[in-house]
Amino acid sequence: MFSESIAAFVVLSIALCSTPVLSTPLSDKVAELRLDPTAVDRLNSLTDQQFVFDFFSPPAGVVTGAAGHTVAATSGTFPAVVGNGVAMTVGFLGPCGINTPHTHPRATEINLSVNGTLRTGLLTENGARFVMNDLPPGSMTIFPQGAVHFEMNDGCEPAMFVAAFNGEDPGVSSLAQRFFGLPVDIVDAALGYPGVQQVKGLESKIPDNIAVGTDECLKRCGLARPPAQPTAQHQPRVSGNAFPTNAVGSDTVSAQPTQTPVSANSTVASATEAANSPVASSTQSANTTSSTA
Ligand SMILES: *[C@@H]1O[C@H](CO)[C@@H](O)[C@H](O)[C@H]1NC(C)=O
Ligand SMILES: *[C@@H]1O[C@H](CO)[C@@H](O)[C@H](O)[C@H]1NC(C)=O
Ligand SMILES: *[C@@H]1O[C@H](CO)[C@@H](O)[C@H](O)[C@H]1NC(C)=O
Ligand SMILES: *[C@@H]1O[C@H](CO)[C@@H](O)[C@H](O)[C@H]1NC(C)=O
Repeated sequence: MFSESIAAFVVLSIALCSTPVLSTPLSDKVAELRLDPTAVDRLNSLTDQQFVFDFFSPPAGVVTGAAGHTVAATSGTFPAVVGNGVAMTVGFLGPCGINTPHTHPRATEINLSVNGTLRTGLLTENGARFVMNDLPPGSMTIFPQGAVHFEMNDGCEPAMFVAAFNGEDPGVSSLAQRFFGLPVDIVDAALGYPGVQQVKGLESKIPDNIAVGTDECLKRCGLARPPAQPTAQHQPRVSGNAFPTNAVGSDTVSAQPTQTPVSANSTVASATEAANSPVASSTQSANTTSSTA
């Protein structure tokens, strides 16, 4: 019995070691904590210092866009949460900065506005009404597990929020990046056939989180919209969601989506395009990917 357990453990260890996950001091510590048989063992696996996470000088977990950044303390960045079922993200939103619409697949979030007024919106599922609120400093709201939500700093000063999660690995799924990371013709069909080129053009513009918020806020604050924002958080393209090789290059299209050969503003044209795409695209336009990058 005992030797069988040892054998099982050895097999498990070999299996764990052979996974392609890159080993780091952080991931090694998390793996060690997950194997600890008791909470006391976990406690003893950590130093006092390892119980502290500094959001102002974090070891990892930073996500940055043009209008701010978030810092996440989860089992991926803060091993001390392992076994405790909690995590926390602190956000630093520039004036009009928006934490773009996203979901947390594995946790409910409660979110406290520290020193700014945050405009929040929430959609839980099909059939549910839209919930929106302005959160003045010191107030909190809740985003149920899996709910689509966003938060924008509606003020002209930087603002901070604190979001707590009832899970140590809440995960984030950014809606725009993930949706537009599906195969382009599938997105086109889901959107009612604006045209594959339009879809590619839109996808290439999706800004990294924290992004620049609404025009109304920017105007009110006397801020100019930047000509471009970083776009490094797009869904990577693999064979399954690759751009059609016979379609126009995305960079050109993204800059001027309305000037592409496939117009989004004609129901008839869109329907025709939908029926033929992506073949129609290839006959309408040259492959400019390489020449316009
Ligand atoms: C918490 O709320 C703020 C403002 O409402 C928002 O900017 C932020 O993205 C939210 N935090 C998370 C982790 O969703
Ligand atoms: C809110 O707190 C953050 C973090 O300390 C700071 O950067 C920001 O300037 C503060 N904003 C206001 C309006 O006090
Ligand atoms: C279009 O250009 C890209 C980048 O140079 C290339 O990989 C692809 O094969 C080209 N497609 C066609 C149909 O020429
Ligand atoms: C599409 O064309 C119609 C009619 O010309 C126009 O009224 C409408 O504003 C256009 N829509 C877009 C998105 O360009």
